This record gives sequence, structure tokens and C-alpha cells, in this order.
Amino acid sequence: MVAGDPIVGSAVFPQGSRVNEEGHLEIAGCDVVELAEEHGTPAYFYAEDDMRARARAYREAFESRGAEYEILFASKSLPCTAAYRLFAEEGLSVDVASGGELHMALRAGFDPDRIHMHGNNKSEEEILLAARAGIRHLILDSFDEIERCERILDEPQKVLIRVTPGIKPSTHDYITTGQLDSKFGFGLEDGLAAKAVERALASEKLELIGLHAHIGSQIFELEPYKLAIQALGELAGDWCQVVNVGGGLGVAYTAEDEPPSIDSYVEVKVRGVAEVFGPDVRILVEPGRSLVANAGLTAYRVGTVKEIPGVRTYVAVDGGMSDNLRPMLYGSVYEALVADRATDQPETLVTIAGMHCESGDVIVRDTMLADPAVGDVVVTPATGAYGYAMANNYNGVPRPPVVFCRDGSSRVVVRRETYEDLTARDV
Ligand SMILES: Cc1ncc(COP(=O)(O)O)c(C=O)c1O
Repeated sequence: MVAGDPIVGSAVFPQGSRVNEEGHLEIAGCDVVELAEEHGTPAYFYAEDDMRARARAYREAFESRGAEYEILFASKSLPCTAAYRLFAEEGLSVDVASGGELHMALRAGFDPDRIHMHGNNKSEEEILLAARAGIRHLILDSFDEIERCERILDEPQKVLIRVTPGIKPSTHDYITTGQLDSKFGFGLEDGLAAKAVERALASEKLELIGLHAHIGSQIFELEPYKLAIQALGELAGDWCQVVNVGGGLGVAYTAEDEPPSIDSYVEVKVRGVAEVFGPDVRILVEPGRSLVANAGLTAYRVGTVKEIPGVRTYVAVDGGMSDNLRPMLYGSVYEALVADRATDQPETLVTIAGMHCESGDVIVRDTMLADPAVGDVVVTPATGAYGYAMANNYNGVPRPPVVFCRDGSSRVVVRRETYEDLTARDV
């Protein structure tokens, strides 16, 4: 990297990132070392325009194909009201997977008619909250839920049936969801999806208008989507006006990762649905990761550097598995950079460890950093999705703030938790 140049060739950092004249990493016109001083560490910093650009890329991909479409922000990836608001402003709809996400979407001002609700075990309370708020689609996941809806709904609700089409893309087992052996949805192979369709069509409380399938997340191949849509075609009927083909598009966590473009992902889905269901069926997608992952990074402060001669050097930072659970959950791999000396050659092999009481609390194993020292700001890019979303208070660690950056200024959209917050619910 050269001072003043963009971080060329890396899709990992937010769009428009560069190294400034001080040799510091800059995102959205903000010096990350200064951001760390102003907002403290650890902290999640997002380039707001990056998220907007990706939302627009999705919209343009559909518009250019003349498709009847709706793009749902899968809000589990970044459930904070500022993100809901941002994607509402960009004309997106939203997918919520719990009463809490529904509450946040409504609080952010989302039109209920643009809210779609998921969940493999929705409670009566959640179903009623959603239906009475006037959400657009409830995505049915089980026969128990069908029974529950028929028993409690005041009025007919538009529903889709979630189908597990029997397709298993190559990604981590924990994030594949479309295979028969899944807690989600109704299987095709075992005939339960066809039974669910029959059951919903016969119901007076359920207005079945379509199908849903989400085969998994962080997917780099496009073929599985095509196969999933073809499989769904088995259930097609006159009643099917909407096909929701889920999210799943992979992102670059490291410079070696080369995910398909948003445009090619949309192409496969639009073409697949048109071929199988006809051109008039409305297509819905639910991207999460591909809207927010690369827009965000986490900044930490180095607290100790422990060299074990002939073994390894641990660089310990002030966060860890409480702000990024993914390495421990899925063995996810990240890159790291010393933001203070972003042009220096990374020549020291280190393992970046968190501050939690678990040996497995490692953020990046065996990575090269530029001579890391106590007090440095180290960033891990591509933590914008499922980072803040899965943050927790392990070891009584307050969760970091979420800060949106744009045109050289930053604003806190979720404040840092305090020690008082940690005891606020105690009774
Ligand atoms: C039903 C559903 N839709 C959409 C998504 C978003 O997926 P991604 O973040 O991979 O785009 C998920 C994520 O797990 C999901 O379960």
C-alpha cells in the first residue's frame, strides 16, 4: 500500500478506503487512528456509503432485468435501528427473524408492509405482534406453526412456505440451511413441503401466496441457487405469485476470496425464477452479509505483546469473542492491519488474541502485522455482518459502540455499553 492510494485490489476493506498522508488507514474519509481515539476501542466502524452502494447495486441489478422484485435486508446481519433506517431509505424491505428484530424494524420506522417474518419457532406472541402490526409475509416453518396461526390469528395473513430443497452448497455446516436434515422449513424429498402447501391452501386463516428457500450463507458458487429454484418448481401452482430465494451471497473476508458479483448473483436468481415459475412471478431476495460485511471493520487497541520464543507471538487486544464470535463459532478467517502504520510491510508473524478467559479466544491466527506494539490500533476488516449482531457480554465485557462514518465525519449510532448497563436488568 502506498500513502494516498486506495487499498488497491482488496475487496475486504470498505469501498473508498485508503491510506492517508500520515500513513494511517482511512475509511469514509475518517482517519481510523483518530476514530479509535475519539470513540475508544474496541469499536465497530462502518462506511455508510458502502452499505448504500451495495443496496443500490442490488436494485440496479433487478431494474436492469425488468424483474418484479423486492430486496429484503436480512437484518440479523446488523440489527441496529440506524441500519434498518438506512436500508429503508434505500428502498429496501426487511426480513426479521424474531419479535426483537420486528420491534427494531418498526422502531426504525419501517413500513410494516415491507416487513417479512421468519423463524423456525415463532411464539404466539411473536406471530400476533407481527400480524397485528400488518407485516407483509409470514414465512411458515412447521406444521405446529400452521396450527398455531390458525388458532390465534384474528384475520387471514399472507404467508409463504419455507422449503428445504435438498441442496447443500459448499460452506460451513452451521450455515447451510437447505438440506433435508435441517431444523428449518419443510422438506421436498420427504413430501412434507407438498403437504404444507396443501394444508395452507385449505386454511381460512392463511393466504398462501408463495414459496421460500434459503440454502445457506457465505456461498461462492451460483449453481446451487439454480438447482434450489428448479427443485422448488416441483411445488409451483397458480397460487404461487411470489418466490423468495433467500440470501447467501458470499463476501471477501481475505484478499484471496473472490465472491461472485451482486449482478451475477441476481442474474442467476432472476433467470432461474423466470424459467421455472414464469416471468410474472415476483422475486424476493434476502441479502444480509453481502450488504454490510465489507462496509464494517473492528478497531482494537493492543494491550500486550507476548513472544514465546520458537513457539508464537501473541498480540492481545481489548476485545475478542464478545465482539466477534465467528472465529470461535465457524473457524472464520480474518485479515488484520496496524492502522497506525498502514504502509509498513507486515513482517511479524503473530496470533491476535482476545482478552477473554478462553484459550480459543483468538481473532486471527498466524497473520503478518507490521511490528505490532502496545498502544497500536489493530483493525480486522469485514466484520460488518454478524459481528455486532452476535456480540455478547462474556466476562462482563460491555459491548462496543457502532459508529457510522461518512465524508470525513462519524456518528455513534449505538453507544458503548457501560458497567451500569451490565447490572441494569438485575432485580
Ligand atoms: C432465512 C434467511 N434469509 C436470509 C439470510 C441472510 O443470509 P446472508 O447473510 O448470507 O445473505 C439468512 C441468514 O442466515 C437466513 O437465515
